[in-house]
Amino acid sequence: MASLEISHINKFYGATQALFDVSLSIGKGEFVTLLGPSGSGKTTLLKILAGFESVSDGAITLGGRNITELKPEVRNFGLVFQGYALFPHMTVRDNIAYPLKVRRLPRDQIETRVREMLDLVQLTRFIDRRPSELSGGQQQRVALARALVFKPDVLLLDEPMSALDKKLRVDLQEELRQIHQTLGTTFINVTHDQEEAMHMSDRIAVMNHGRIEQFDTAFNLYRNPASRFTADFIGKSNIFAGEMVRGASGLDFRGDALEVQLGLTDRPQGRVDLMVRPEDITILTEAPDAGRVALAAEVLHSTYSGDRALYALRLGSGKEISAYGAARSGIHAAGAKVFASFAPGDVTLIG
Ligand SMILES: Nc1ncnc2c1ncn2[C@@H]1O[C@H](COP(=O)(O)OP(=O)(O)OP(=O)(O)O)[C@@H](O)[C@H]1O
Ligand SMILES: [Mg+2]
Repeated sequence: MASLEISHINKFYGATQALFDVSLSIGKGEFVTLLGPSGSGKTTLLKILAGFESVSDGAITLGGRNITELKPEVRNFGLVFQGYALFPHMTVRDNIAYPLKVRRLPRDQIETRVREMLDLVQLTRFIDRRPSELSGGQQQRVALARALVFKPDVLLLDEPMSALDKKLRVDLQEELRQIHQTLGTTFINVTHDQEEAMHMSDRIAVMNHGRIEQFDTAFNLYRNPASRFTADFIGKSNIFAGEMVRGASGLDFRGDALEVQLGLTDRPQGRVDLMVRPEDITILTEAPDAGRVALAAEVLHSTYSGDRALYALRLGSGKEISAYGAARSGIHAAGAKVFASFAPGDVTLIG
């Protein structure tokens, strides 16, 4: 059941258009991430969901109810925003209790809820501290507890971990995922960290210049990107421009210095991009069997990470590609002549 419906939202700041016809249908209890480069409109969309910004056009409904014009405080959305800091003069207890005091809950119920939340974020022993006496990660967990204490319908998170170091960020990601599983609340998270998005989300909305490029699972975004932008933005990719041309058993791909027999019957002729992921390429020292694509290449350099090596290769055409290679029995040296080989079944056509 779709719970949060975002329909055809346009947003102008004066003459600048920040969002273009944005529509998303988000299920109850889903963990959705808005992912995109700086300036792509992620925060703008989140502020509109929170009610801090108005829409120029379009509507938002929650469980069928139109909330587009509702004030932030009556939306029942939890917020963890950059710059939406803890109250510095209040203890952890009072920070977390604050939304419930505003809602005039009885004192004993407030104390029970605060303790439940502290248990959830594993900060019970810090209940009487002030924010300045906590680490950055602990402060973010208090902010999370404060945003969840009143059982919001939706939790909105705008890069809550961007100020933390890598190790802490990974720990907090795992914690956030567990909290999401425990509560079953709808989470909408904003990040420009692709790995974070892939690790945590049920689905990811890829944003670019104020538009939704694709809204899908991490798997589908990676294996079947709908646009060149998504193919480039999610993971490493090698993209060859070319066209579909009639071959012996259907349409084949013909690009610069690359032909792949695909024999497709279910797509039109004409311009297309072909994508091969670096892990789908095998580096060989001799030409492979027929049936596989083989491109003569020279090793430019490699980056060894223990379990494997990432190679930069230059093809005969001058084009550079990247490929992972097993590194158990050695690493191909710079200058080595190799073949970059892949199966026709491992390519993805875009467009
Ligand atoms: N209050 C504002 N007035 C005018 N333009 C704005 C305003 N807020 C945002 N913009 C513009 O809208 C566009 C989207 O901004 P937004 O803050 O939503 O991007 P973002 O994806 O969150 O980027 P970042 O990753 O840097 O946080 C940008 O071009 C930005 O300059
Ligand atoms: Mg932002």
